[in-house]
Amino acid sequence: MAALCRSLFHGFVKGNVYRQTSCRSGSSVRPPLSSMLAAASCPELRRLSVEEPEVFWGSVARERLRWIRPFQQVKDCDMSRGKVSWFLGGQLNVSVNCLDVHVEKHPERAALIWERDEPGTEVKVTYRELLEMTCRLANTLKSHGVRKGDRVAIYMPVSPTAVAAMLACARIGAVHTVVFAGFSSEALAGRIQDAECKVVLTCNQGVRAGRLFDLKSPVDTAVKSCPSVQHVFVSQRTTSPAPMGKLDVQLEEAMEKESAICPPEPMDSEDMLFMLYTSGSTGKPKGIVHTQAGYLLYTALTHQYVFDCQPGDVFGCVADIGWITGHSYVVYGPLCNGTTTMLFESTPVYPDPGRYWETVERLGINQFYGAPTAIRLLLKYDESWVRKYNRSSLRTLGSVGEPINHEAWDWFYNVVGDGRCPVVDTWWQTETGGICIAPRPAEQGAEIVPAMAMRPFFGIQPVLMGEEGRPVSGNDVSGALCLSQPWPGIARTIFRDHQRYMDVYFKAYPGHYFTGDGAYRSPEGYYQITGRMDDVINVSGHRLGTAEIEDALDEHPAVPETAVVSVSHDIKGEVPFAFVVLKDDASLEQMAVLEELRGLVASKIAKYAVPNHFLVVKRLPKTRSGKIMRRILRKIAMEQTDNLGDLSTLDDPSVITEIIQAHTHYKNQHKKKKN
Ligand code: WT7
Repeated sequence: MAALCRSLFHGFVKGNVYRQTSCRSGSSVRPPLSSMLAAASCPELRRLSVEEPEVFWGSVARERLRWIRPFQQVKDCDMSRGKVSWFLGGQLNVSVNCLDVHVEKHPERAALIWERDEPGTEVKVTYRELLEMTCRLANTLKSHGVRKGDRVAIYMPVSPTAVAAMLACARIGAVHTVVFAGFSSEALAGRIQDAECKVVLTCNQGVRAGRLFDLKSPVDTAVKSCPSVQHVFVSQRTTSPAPMGKLDVQLEEAMEKESAICPPEPMDSEDMLFMLYTSGSTGKPKGIVHTQAGYLLYTALTHQYVFDCQPGDVFGCVADIGWITGHSYVVYGPLCNGTTTMLFESTPVYPDPGRYWETVERLGINQFYGAPTAIRLLLKYDESWVRKYNRSSLRTLGSVGEPINHEAWDWFYNVVGDGRCPVVDTWWQTETGGICIAPRPAEQGAEIVPAMAMRPFFGIQPVLMGEEGRPVSGNDVSGALCLSQPWPGIARTIFRDHQRYMDVYFKAYPGHYFTGDGAYRSPEGYYQITGRMDDVINVSGHRLGTAEIEDALDEHPAVPETAVVSVSHDIKGEVPFAFVVLKDDASLEQMAVLEELRGLVASKIAKYAVPNHFLVVKRLPKTRSGKIMRRILRKIAMEQTDNLGDLSTLDDPSVITEIIQAHTHYKNQHKKKKN
């Protein structure tokens, strides 16, 4: 039976359901889950992982990770108090598990393939070379005063240097916080201030879709308001010289001077590994904290099992390292498993819409992991952009970040995968560390239903909560998606704000982790994610808080009040729609004010956060207690005015007609402009 779990994801099409029919024999090259558990079948393993998590995770952790000191206790968790600890008493070093253990066995295997913006200019970095780079960078950080526990900001697009920077932090016990290089200098400054970063790593410039963009000057602006920053390390991505100031250190030159050996710092299982900021429904972005052993183990196990990734495979996740997908499935999971992982610097349409598939052919990618937004963009082009490239290396296709609609799923499965590769729709979050719900096509008889995130991973116990706050039982039901058991990859806290962690995740349903998403459980017991239940929106798979955008807009002196909601978009999934109230005297210069508002959002957050629509209204709909009724605004923006729902709490119902009229006018003008 164990062979089943090691099997390839073979499937065939049967109606709309893809069923596994064959599996690889015991001679599989895939490492066993654990020799102790090797005799168990996948369903038995799943049962064990939920019913006896200590046995399951204890044995997996002992077997798969290299420990400096063994752990004494598998877990100590109490979700009702927001307390989660795994592998207590144990010590390890994450960079050793991602690098040294592989260098011992296969030093010349490619760890990274840097798929640079210009096709055909990829750079391979072996495990030996990556260890050397990591050590030199780690020694550079050390000689500039970075110590265990210090925070390090990384404002770099994906590249071997950026990966080495993350691993260098892990090597010396520093805590990295990667800030997506598309965020504005103000957003960067906010994160550096909150984390009190000691140093920042950046590049002189970035390269994307044949264009260069500046990274050094946003950093220069940001660090002016960040007294904690002692050094800025500048890596030279292009030949253009960056003006160097007092704080600046040229990274490559500094690394040359350092030794290629750096002893790994022994880290407690529960020491911080990194923090990553993400948007919530209220307030500023939260610094989500992940720790060492549990996170690493969870990303490695999910990476292997969900994608059927085997040693020597080339894993192609196109995410940027500025997001959790890049952390877990570009860097930590694949490297812990000794895989070759691709770093994708370009875009899906550069130089043409065949870029992904040309890359698949050239690099021999075995698993391709991307976002529905890119699939929706690509399916608008002719299929020949896909068909002309050889995709026979592909075995698994993965989707992440937002719901994948049927059209996108079908195109991914039939056109890209030629109907022979399972599509795994993976549901998870920055906070969950790794994939929680996904199909598991390796199991005998396992089905994949199009566009469904499907089944909980080992150790994950989903519960759907009904309106009265109690679990809904049975199948064919919907509710608020909660997870009732702790798993090793769950975030441990929000940096310096444990109370907020408690309030956001554990308060709504005591004893349970609340995901913020709604879900449906099908008659067969499979899960489908129905979307966020809070004021978080998902633009091209990137999470944004509507409150964050409102805060940026509200800074404009001519704008007393705004409300931002999401509306559907055929490629981006969702986009922000802003309702804006202007001061009387500003109404005349409406166009100028709106332009300034766009600029405000771009400079306070990022360009992708700028609302696609602005509608100027006289007033916003409010309850008698003064709360803005965003639910109604969303219906108006989505043109679902036939059924506005319960309006009884509305203070002044006439405001609704007023806004509907303004919206109709706006739409007509929009149409005229298009024609
Ligand atoms: C939110 C988490 C997970 C890494 C990328 C995003 C939505 C994520 C799916 C999916 C439907 C999904 C959820 C979730 N989401 N994956 N397969 N189907 N929705 O991480 O920025 O932390 O966002 O993305 O709403 O809560 P994130």
